[in-house]
Amino acid sequence: MADKKVILSGSTVTGDLTLGNYIGAMNNWRKLQEEYNCHYFIADLHALTVAQDPKALRERCFSFFAQYLALGLDPEKNTIFVQSHIHEHAELAWILTCLTPMGNLNRMTQFKDKSSRTKNINAGLFTYPTLMASDILLYQADVVPVGEDQRQHMELCRDLVVFFENRYGEGILKMPEAYIGKAGARVMALQDPSKKMSKSDDNEKNFVSIIDSPKKIQKKIKSAQTDSDTVVNYDPENKPGLANLLTIYSVLSERSIEEICKDYEGKMYGHLKVDLADLVVDTLKPVQEKYEDLMKNKDHLEALMEKGAQKARLRAADTLKKVYETTGLIYRR
Ligand code: TYM
Repeated sequence: MADKKVILSGSTVTGDLTLGNYIGAMNNWRKLQEEYNCHYFIADLHALTVAQDPKALRERCFSFFAQYLALGLDPEKNTIFVQSHIHEHAELAWILTCLTPMGNLNRMTQFKDKSSRTKNINAGLFTYPTLMASDILLYQADVVPVGEDQRQHMELCRDLVVFFENRYGEGILKMPEAYIGKAGARVMALQDPSKKMSKSDDNEKNFVSIIDSPKKIQKKIKSAQTDSDTVVNYDPENKPGLANLLTIYSVLSERSIEEICKDYEGKMYGHLKVDLADLVVDTLKPVQEKYEDLMKNKDHLEALMEKGAQKARLRAADTLKKVYETTGLIYRR
């Protein structure tokens, strides 16, 4: 394990995991677990940047944890844990916050986007990227598999390593690389292909959730917005809705977009939508069955959370100790 490269990634516990999360992130996480020392976590502290119903948040943490497992992440091979179980995340985040120029945070497009849609903008929403950097740097991660929307946050994280080194010297924090898959790094909203599919979208028709019923999935995909042309070809600029469906089709079927387009020569968009809906339902069926099963036994999930936390804690504490010693803080005995 020691010589394997370290991977870290997570998802914020808001809404329900979507097909976008699966295609842009978890599908890659699953593939990476064979070769790397992987750490996958449930970002519950990040969820607090928007108002949460406490009971629903706790329930959703269990649900996300079960979905990670149901999507094929193996708790024996990976360290799977809940962010708030490792207090070092918040501690390192504070130290990094004190190194982060306001100007860098002001440039974050996700903050601009989220704050334009919210009345009560809290400081956590603004400093969120420093908490994300601490998630990554605590585990000395080499590689961070994420979707395209996290690119800017990753750049800030890398900048923070440089700021830290400029002040305190090298060799304490590792410089991480983002891993953004070639296909499906930005799955678009079904009713508005100009924006990304997001689990916190107010319009439920814009996303397919991993745990949506087959009927809902069929309905959402069949009513996805496409143009009025009839030829099935990949043209993201002029036919963004269709291009999005073809991307989803290609990733889930592991076939090239050209091959898929050939299958639909002389056929209408409707045929493609029906087949894609079936493919999504079939892909998610075993995941949903496993998920239902896992959710029946919360004690088992809690035991797995604790097991993951124990592994994660060792690595996190080791980094935090070095950071305390370097920055002049006295590390607790
Ligand atoms: P989150 O919860 O928004 O998304 C989880 C992962 O899914 C990817 N993703 C997408 N990929 C393709 N198309 C989409 N429409 C789409 N929507 C989401 C995201 O890029 C992400 O990889 N800030 C992070 C969570 C986080 C984190 C971290 C990630 C907190 N700390 C440390 C990596 C490392 C977030 O909110 O992701």
